[in-house]
Amino acid sequence: MKVLAFNSSPHKDKGNTALILNPFLKGMSSAGAEVELFYTCDLDINPCRGELNCMLKTPGKCLQNDDIQMLTPKLGADVLVLASPLYIWTMNGQMKNLLDRMIPLLPANKGRIILVSSCGFWGLENFDPLISYMETVCSKVDRVFAEALLRPHAVYLKMMLEAGAPVQDIPAAVEEAGRQLVVDHIINPKTLGIISRELVSLQVWNERVKQRFGTGVDS
Ligand SMILES: Cc1cc2nc3c(=O)[nH]c(=O)nc-3n(C[C@H](O)[C@H](O)[C@H](O)COP(=O)(O)O)c2cc1C
Repeated sequence: MKVLAFNSSPHKDKGNTALILNPFLKGMSSAGAEVELFYTCDLDINPCRGELNCMLKTPGKCLQNDDIQMLTPKLGADVLVLASPLYIWTMNGQMKNLLDRMIPLLPANKGRIILVSSCGFWGLENFDPLISYMETVCSKVDRVFAEALLRPHAVYLKMMLEAGAPVQDIPAAVEEAGRQLVVDHIINPKTLGIISRELVSLQVWNERVKQRFGTGVDS
């Protein structure tokens, strides 16, 4: 099984999104998948120029000469993992830019698509617009939107891991999710639940946000 992953966080492997993505890829790799990871901020991917050459002139091929040329043969992977921090309730601009450039290739390739995302706000519902967007995209390009690995109030995971708090079940569940995806082709909802589990109460989260940013932020 070939897995192609993109992480669009500017924090790369030091970010909250990587705390979920990396053990997930490790789990897939240890179950026998061939995994390749790219950080969008290391790639030279220009914005789409809207010329539609990839549909009209050279179907399936973008004529812009940047890293999309290097990525094109890889996009036929069995699993495409898109990992983005949540920015203004959707994927960040870096990931959207990549998707815009991938549009001619998305319908042609048939690999399953997995979303990995982390966010700052407390509740899981903050991911709803992004999930809905991914569902729409995948259904329109006839791709299977397989799973979403979601980590709300993600900064707490980072702080608690660093402090040695008992949260190791989360990276362990993420790694297990990677293994399940390769071996069982599906991730157990219980495993997904551990990955997204509450780390602090909404009240504690709210109090910390007020201390750091003042009032006016909702969960
Ligand atoms: C420009 C910007 C917009 C953000 N928008 C949201 C948001 O809409 N909802 C949310 O819960 N968190 C939001 N966040 C917080 C990030 O999603 C969160 O800190 C994430 O875990 C960062 O991941 P990273 O460390 O991998 O970059 C935003 C952060 C930035 C910088």
